[in-house]
Amino acid sequence: MYKIVEKRELAPKIKQFEVAAPGIAAKANPGQFVILRVYEKGERIPINLANSNAKKGTITLVFNEVGKTTNQLGLLNQGDDILNIAGPLGNPSEIQRFGTVLCVGGGVMIAPLLFQVSALRKAGNKLITVIGARIKDLLFFEKEMKELSDEFYVATDDGSKGYMGLSFLKDIFNKQRIDRVIAMGPVVMLKTVSEMTKPLGIKTIVTLTPIMVDGMGMCGSCRVSVAGETKFACVDGPEFDGHQVDFDQLIKRQRMYLPEERLSALFHERLRGIKLDRG
Ligand SMILES: Cc1cc2nc3c(=O)[nH]c(=O)nc-3n(C[C@H](O)[C@H](O)[C@H](O)COP(=O)(O)OP(=O)(O)OC[C@H]3O[C@@H](n4cnc5c(N)ncnc54)[C@H](O)[C@@H]3O)c2cc1C
Ligand code: FES
Repeated sequence: MYKIVEKRELAPKIKQFEVAAPGIAAKANPGQFVILRVYEKGERIPINLANSNAKKGTITLVFNEVGKTTNQLGLLNQGDDILNIAGPLGNPSEIQRFGTVLCVGGGVMIAPLLFQVSALRKAGNKLITVIGARIKDLLFFEKEMKELSDEFYVATDDGSKGYMGLSFLKDIFNKQRIDRVIAMGPVVMLKTVSEMTKPLGIKTIVTLTPIMVDGMGMCGSCRVSVAGETKFACVDGPEFDGHQVDFDQLIKRQRMYLPEERLSALFHERLRGIKLDRG
């Protein structure tokens, strides 16, 4: 059992838990994730580490309530327990002094990006950060990102705050030399950023979030195609070279269980009398 020591709502349907998990906190690094179960008969869902504090023995998870399990998770409160958490899983991010790094985070993945931004800052990089969301109300960690960044930008899909969309990134690439790009967020965003940087030859690392079950390389559900080879995101990633990823295949695979997910969410809504926001 893993106790929730603090619960915060960062934005509508986006919640942050600080959880007592000393064994995981002792080994956790930016870029890694955990797989948790809320109830005995519940499914296993992967969530990136948004922070870890080895001294306190806690990890931080930020999640978006998009379906049945994330909504069940969101119903837990400070003092409640999460049934089980496996981790840290996946490979840690490569943290080095690269030079000037552009970090782009979209949606709920702004949270694990902050963990990485903080490590890149400590490593002595110049950081340009961009955070984006569908609408301004879904933005969070603006102050925290700004404090760690040399340049900081906001983008929204509807233009309600900052730039509208990501086309303004072209101006950043034209203005200065960028040594590396790191992108975490929806697959469509990862694809857009990778397509912008490929002709410029800027190394671009993307975090992939395919459907995962065991998280240990055994079930094959997280397979992705990278440079024409099949990789398992849970053990070979979750970070990959964005110029080599078959994003269209990933988008298709992520939608594989949509009818079942919709049905499951519907049953959950009816049972609890709540309406789920499915983007
Ligand atoms: C490595 C990794 C890290 C992730 N980190 C975060 C995070 O930090 N915060 C966060 O909010 N979400 C994160 N996700 C996505 C999160 O796992 C899904 O949102 C969650 O599983 C949805 O479950 P659900 O029952 O609430 O919704 P559902 O209605 O079951 O699914 C909604 C959508 O979520 C995706 N999804 C469903 N089941 C899984 C699964 N087992 N594995 C991966 N994706 C799934 C599918 O694209 C699906 O269409 C991460 C996914 C991966 C693979
Ligand atoms: S989640 Fe099973 S192989 Fe990756």
